[in-house]
Amino acid sequence: MRIRILGSAAGGGFPQWNCNCENCRSARGGALRGAARTQSSIAVSADGDRWCVINASPDLRSQILAFAPLAPRVGTRDTAIDAILLSDAEIDHVAGLLSLRETQALRIYCSAPVFEWVFQSNPMFAALVEPGKIVWTAVTDRVTHPIRTADDRDTGLAVQAFFVPGKIPRYARALPGNADGATLAYRIVDARSRSSIFYVPVIRELDDAFLAELPTVECLLFDGSFWSERELEAHGAGARTASSMGHLPIGGAHGSLERLRHLNGTRRIYTHVNNTNPILDHRSPERRALVESGWEVAEDGMDLEV
Ligand code: MLT
Ligand code: MN
Ligand code: ZN
Repeated sequence: MRIRILGSAAGGGFPQWNCNCENCRSARGGALRGAARTQSSIAVSADGDRWCVINASPDLRSQILAFAPLAPRVGTRDTAIDAILLSDAEIDHVAGLLSLRETQALRIYCSAPVFEWVFQSNPMFAALVEPGKIVWTAVTDRVTHPIRTADDRDTGLAVQAFFVPGKIPRYARALPGNADGATLAYRIVDARSRSSIFYVPVIRELDDAFLAELPTVECLLFDGSFWSERELEAHGAGARTASSMGHLPIGGAHGSLERLRHLNGTRRIYTHVNNTNPILDHRSPERRALVESGWEVAEDGMDLEV
């Protein structure tokens, strides 16, 4: 299975258009040892030919143009993207759907609440769901589905969704019942080789049941939004905490670096990195700590194979 990091930043990208934090300022001025990033998304393929994309960031159009295997090949209208999977309904993970609207048939995998928030409550996104154009498969907690195309061909990949603690998008109204299915982690499995990855761009807390699943994959792409709980406040970027935004910080005694220290047999990569995060600076002590623990940080254009 091949994985391409299309984008590796949290909402806003890096540098963010209106942000003057230390990282963004030094990235703009060229002084930062570290790369600019578009908003997070990955493409996954069983054969290197046809691709499934997880999350449609506002940068999706430029990400498609930057990765030749996603280009159309046959006829006047075509795409190498077979399916789109959505981990949640956050704007930085769905706004790119609007760039895919040129009457292209697509298969969408997401939970029922995400489908409701994005496609049913939003006239603009609802316009994408022309009959026969967008085929939706509802994913439910822990169930594995073969990933199929809009015209029901097999992609050679399967997906298992895990409902994880996260948050309801700020624009969305809470649905009756609880918030289950607002935030998902995906295990993608190559049906032939059985190799697999976890894509977990948003997670607020790690529970034991989910932790027990993590060692079963070859590669873990994990929520690297914030180093610390009060990072935004410390940078003068508002009072919201990491956990109130649905993210488990990397650092600290209860952060993901400590909580996942035992996974040293798994390739571990932080992604969905917010522009305030000190790990974006290769010279920071936080970046060094993470590298010493065997972690990597995703960059746009990174290719992985499992
Ligand atoms: C988030 O997931 O909380 C966002 O990507 C962060 C943001 O929009 O700044
Ligand atoms: Mn985000
Ligand atoms: Zn910034």
